[in-house]
This record gives sequence, structure tokens and C-alpha cells, in this order.
Amino acid sequence: DWKPDNVIASAVEEIRQAVGDGRALIALSGGVDSAVAGALAKEAIGSRLTAVLIDHGLLRAGEVEEVQAAFRDIDLQVVDAKAEFFSALGGVTDPEQKRKIIGREFIRAFERVQSLVGTREVLIQGTVYPDVIESGGRGAHTIKSHHNVGGLPEDIAFRVVEPLRWLFKDEVRRVGEALGLPEALVWRQPFPGPGLAVRIVGTVDEEKVGVLRQADAIVREEIYRAGLDRAIWQAFAVLLDIRSVGVMGDARTYGYPIVIRAVESLDGMTADWVRLDHNLLDRMASRIVGEVAGVNRVVYDITSKPPGTIEWE
Ligand code: XMP
Repeated sequence: DWKPDNVIASAVEEIRQAVGDGRALIALSGGVDSAVAGALAKEAIGSRLTAVLIDHGLLRAGEVEEVQAAFRDIDLQVVDAKAEFFSALGGVTDPEQKRKIIGREFIRAFERVQSLVGTREVLIQGTVYPDVIESGGRGAHTIKSHHNVGGLPEDIAFRVVEPLRWLFKDEVRRVGEALGLPEALVWRQPFPGPGLAVRIVGTVDEEKVGVLRQADAIVREEIYRAGLDRAIWQAFAVLLDIRSVGVMGDARTYGYPIVIRAVESLDGMTADWVRLDHNLLDRMASRIVGEVAGVNRVVYDITSKPPGTIEWE
């Protein structure tokens, strides 16, 4: 019989064993998984834990502030690594290459942090079971290299502990609730480690990320207002690095299309697109085109998984 308390007890034990008398670092991504892993690590080793949020410039609107609020009572370092990430991603279009670059830059950023905060022998990561499967970790084919599995460089200077690697998302949420994490954090939507970079099809730069971030905030806000945020697994925006012709007032426009993606899922392994109300879609589209400069078209993704994946890259 599956119980969150049993998982917590064995994860706490695993972390204590791995860390010994040493210290550990946890990478918070803004997502549920790393937050729950962080709460477990805090439970296990208390003040010997340092949490780090790498601000790679690819987070959603308001995310840095939300993580700061939720982890107020532990040693949390927010590292501004935007310049390094954008420069490493410059000109890259291949999705797997993007993921590997981001994985590598994450570790480099942690290594820089490590020299600032002193020695940390162990890196705790919120890798969950579907990440392990989809990265080919159990003999499966590689579908996507998750930044926290396949993207690790060979010369990594940490021992990695992944206390959630046997859990599915609903189990992770139950563990988070049992640990007393705020509801808003436990129920927040899954967000990929490589962030908004894998929601821009094409090359990534700060301007496009800015456009996508605004569109994404509108999608999530409208979903929340419609009372659908808990019912829907994920709802977000994707930016396509192509342009199409439109008209605004009596002027021609030439702008980016934004894709709205909303899916229902139990564990992220399979998913069905959500039959969103047309008036809701209309509100999102009008607001995105009206409020986000550079966007002149909105399309809705009606592909399930399989054959589509949830993210576009
Ligand atoms: P896909 O796109 O593979 O996504 O259907 C399945 C679920 O996993 C999330 N996802 C990730 N999570 N690191 C993560 O922690 C990643 O690299 C990553 N890529 C995708 C995705 O948001 C969806 O919930």
C-alpha cells in the first residue's frame, strides 16, 4: 500500500546516508518536483542544505519571486546566469542540442555557486520516474534528454541524489502535501527544466523569450480565472520562430504566431488535448494579439500524446 509517509521516511534516510556529515545543494527550478525534493532535503539535513535557483532567463513570469516566497526560511541563493545561458544557446535550433547545452550550463552555474558557498558534496535533484524513462534510463529509447538526466556532463563534480526517481507526479504532489508545502506550490503545473527555451521552436534569444513569457502569463491567467487550473495538467504558450502576415487597424503586420497548448494527463506519459471553451480561447487570443507586441496570430494545438509530445521540443 502506497503511503506518502513511507516515501518520506525512506527518502529522508537516503539523503542522510548520501550526505553523511557533509552538506548538500539543491537546484530549485520553479517546478513542483524540485520543490518537493527541496522540502525532503530540508527535512533530512536542515541547515546543511543550500538551495540554489539558477535564473537562466528562461523562467515564467513571476517565478523567481514565487520560489523566494516559498523557500524564505532556508538558505536560498538566486544566481543570475542569463548572460551565460543566452550566449551558449545563441544560434542553436536543434531541440536535443538545446537541452544538452542547458544541462551543461546548469552544472557550470552550480559549480560557480559551489565556490561561493563552500563545499557541497551532494547535489539533490527532483528527477521523477517519467523523466528517467523518457531519457532512456531504463533501456527505453531516448525521446527527449531531460536536462536533469541526459544533459549532465562527464566531469560533474557532485554526487547526485534523486529521491523522487521512482515516483509519478501525483505521488510527488501527495508527498509535497504531506510535507506541508503550500497548496499553490504543490499544485502548480509541471514546468520543464530547460524552461521556455523548449517552448520556442527555433533559435532562442531574450527578445523572443520576453514575447513568449507575456503570452504564457495570459494563457495561465485566463485558465486560472476560468477555474480550470487544477483540472488541467498543463496550459501554456509556445512561440514559433516564423512570421506570418496580418493586419492591425489599416496597417500590415508581420509577426510571430503563438501556439496555445492545453492538455489533460495523469502522469505526463500520455495526454489528451483539452476541449477548451471557444469563448475562453477567443479571450486568450484577443488578449495575446492585443497585449503582446510582435505577435499577430494565435493557433490552438489539438494533438494528443502520442503522437505529439506535450512540449514542442
Ligand atoms: P513531453 O514533452 O515529453 O513532456 O510529453 C512530458 C512532461 O514532462 C515535462 N518535461 C520536463 N520536465 N525536465 C523536466 O523536469 C525536462 O527536461 C522536461 N521536458 C518535459 C513536460 O512539461 C510534461 O509535463
